Amino acid sequence: MKQKNFHIWYFAEIYFHFNCSALASKSIFLNCICMLLSKSSQSLTGTLSVNTEDLSAKPDVKTPITWGDLKGPRSFPIVGTAYKLMAKPDQLHMVIDDMVKEYGKVVKMKFGPTRSFGIACPKLMEEIVRREDPIPTRDAPLPWLEYLQSQKLPGGLLTSQGTEWERKRQAVRSVMLKPFAMQDFIVNQSAISNDLCTYLDSKKDEHNFVDNLSFHLYRFTFEDRYFTEKMLSKAIEGKPGSSPLTLSLISNSKLSNGDIECMLLEFLFGGVDTTSNTLGFLLYLLASHPDKQEKLRAEVKEVIKSGNGLDLNTIQNMRYLNSCIKETLRLYPALFINGRAISQSFTTKARNMEFKAGDNVMFFHYCMGRDKDLWYKSDQFIPERFDRDLSDADSPARQLVSIPFGFGTRGCIGKRIAELTLSLGVMKILSQYMLTTDDRHSFLPVTRALLTPGQQIPVRFNKYQ
Ligand code: HEM
Repeated sequence: MKQKNFHIWYFAEIYFHFNCSALASKSIFLNCICMLLSKSSQSLTGTLSVNTEDLSAKPDVKTPITWGDLKGPRSFPIVGTAYKLMAKPDQLHMVIDDMVKEYGKVVKMKFGPTRSFGIACPKLMEEIVRREDPIPTRDAPLPWLEYLQSQKLPGGLLTSQGTEWERKRQAVRSVMLKPFAMQDFIVNQSAISNDLCTYLDSKKDEHNFVDNLSFHLYRFTFEDRYFTEKMLSKAIEGKPGSSPLTLSLISNSKLSNGDIECMLLEFLFGGVDTTSNTLGFLLYLLASHPDKQEKLRAEVKEVIKSGNGLDLNTIQNMRYLNSCIKETLRLYPALFINGRAISQSFTTKARNMEFKAGDNVMFFHYCMGRDKDLWYKSDQFIPERFDRDLSDADSPARQLVSIPFGFGTRGCIGKRIAELTLSLGVMKILSQYMLTTDDRHSFLPVTRALLTPGQQIPVRFNKYQ
């Protein structure tokens, strides 16, 4: 157990010390910022009516557009264009936004010898992700990979490749992505959400403001993952009280204890900051949009009044809550950049663009989520746009434009857990507090490998009468 705790803290250490100065090295850049890269193979065209006119199109459309035809920051030997991203490491999303404004929706970049395409064009992104290999490969976060190798540990989903990855992914796919398997999670998470409010009460100052809210929300989501970890040790030691998730992992004869330990640690790595930061953004958006907050509270009250208790079906049917979560992730995608490695050369139908094996693509999710050409009042918090009854079939909300959990076989394995954690957390908070903004603090999202709301989230938790 001591050894296991050491792993957790070592893991937390590397995670927190990941900052954007690491971008100086191409490999760390690819591992830290693009987090997830995979290979590709076949095609499909999207039907989005998006503005891609500012791509550096050649007059002769029969000749494919190549990387060399595109515009981008000046490239220098060894560093390539990485210096551009290091200019303001804590505002990387804005640096990228400015690059897209300057060079267009496909930006030419270079990291060491690797040609890279920065893509803010959903049509192109859709075609690339739909070409994915059945077993996509992706670079793993380098410091974590080196640590695993030094400890002779097998690695989890983030760090495994090929059939190794497939074996591990198969072992957890049904328990983590299938809705019915999530029911047991609700019971644990509801208890943790109750504690969250008691905890927030103890941290509030006389203005109902919680100093360093980001950290406290982090503890809330960490608690959930740590709980899972404790469940695992119980299960391995044959003690009662284990969850179906951990029991199903240890009863899987294809997984060693080392596999399971690494997989759970990587859930911690992938799940804690992403979820807590998203919750922070959501609370701020609700505090600064009282009408939306009231609408969501009405939905929450309705569910509580029904007295039927919380089950997965009920939570999934809370349409406004789900729309609020989607809209938060459109405006503030935790992974504001995600990527794919190109394994085979191809030319896309969208914009007739040529990609070669070995190229790297980076999807600029923050820019696509806020693109004025795509979204009505793109900078505003309008959850209604994700309501299927209110949006048109050709709305970007119904297309592959905002994909905060990634896409395909290598998409986020913790998506359902994250959605439930966010739902239960916000339901509990809205049933107890009226959120208002705190005018003594400004709101400034900061990039620290992920997009975060910063240390101080200007929200006041006024007891709801
Ligand atoms: C709001 C919360 C979250 C967001 C926005 C998020 C986002 C993402 C994204 C964009 C990817 C890459 C997908 C791709 O490349 O197509 C990913 C992968 C991953 N996420 Fe999440 N995530 C969240 C929560 C979680 C949670 C709660 C867990 C664990 C319980 C988790 C574990 C993972 C793992 C293990 C991978 C790698 C999957 C693989 O390679 O097979 N994530 N996540």
